[in-house]
Amino acid sequence: MEIVICKTKEEASRIAASIITAAVKANPETVLGLATGSTPVTMYDEMAKAVAAGEVSYKKVRSWNLDEYVGLPGTHDQSYRYFMNENLFKKIDIDLANTHVLNGLAEDPVAECAAYEKQIKDAGGIDIQVLGIGSDGHIAFNEPGTSLASRTGVVYLTPQTIKDNARFFKSADEVPTRALSMGVGSICEAKKIILLAFGANKADAVAAAVEGGVSQYCTASALQCHNDVWFFCDEEAAAKLKLKDYYSWRSSIKLQKVQVND
Ligand code: GLP
Repeated sequence: MEIVICKTKEEASRIAASIITAAVKANPETVLGLATGSTPVTMYDEMAKAVAAGEVSYKKVRSWNLDEYVGLPGTHDQSYRYFMNENLFKKIDIDLANTHVLNGLAEDPVAECAAYEKQIKDAGGIDIQVLGIGSDGHIAFNEPGTSLASRTGVVYLTPQTIKDNARFFKSADEVPTRALSMGVGSICEAKKIILLAFGANKADAVAAAVEGGVSQYCTASALQCHNDVWFFCDEEAAAKLKLKDYYSWRSSIKLQKVQVND
């Protein structure tokens, strides 16, 4: 795991976006795994800026999103399909037909999830997977207590996640209690993973994911077993890491190499 600790989320988002921009320039058919939540929004804006500047095109990029609430149509303003359209897809030149979000209204959710996994496999797998992290250490909607080998399927949100996400709904009662989510095992098949974590309320989750034991109690800890994971944190989210000075020194050297290779 490389841990990049930046002064601000803006700086972290810029660097993370530059890695994606460089990857899409090098391979215009890059397959992206995308995430929702407030965390990646600044990075998505940076990606859009690079498109507007004519630096890169997403015309041939295909994307698969991590998760979707069960019961919300893609037109609902809290659905993750709607979120992606508004916060990224409308701002870049990607073909909407090449963007995939699990269907929260699928009559047969199990078949929907199996077909989604097959689509990703047929596309050659995810080249770069973007992740946020829940305050309880979850990735996608893989809550504490989920097998680290889990595959894409129906999942049940914890009271903590419902509480965290209630800010986007009129009340906590309106937050769906189930979602379709890529599994931890499915996510870990991505070739490269970029996780973003900002703010003090992510500090415990980041510390558990990076320096805690690998455990289903913190599903992000499964990323310790992946060999190309980059955490981009602001100082607040990194505050509880014991080795933060070492990570900063090491990642600054590795980031220079990434830029030289570009
Ligand atoms: C939801 C999403 C996760 C996301 C998390 C954190 O639970 N399913 O993918 O990482 O929220 O959201 P935020 O970035 O708003 O803190």
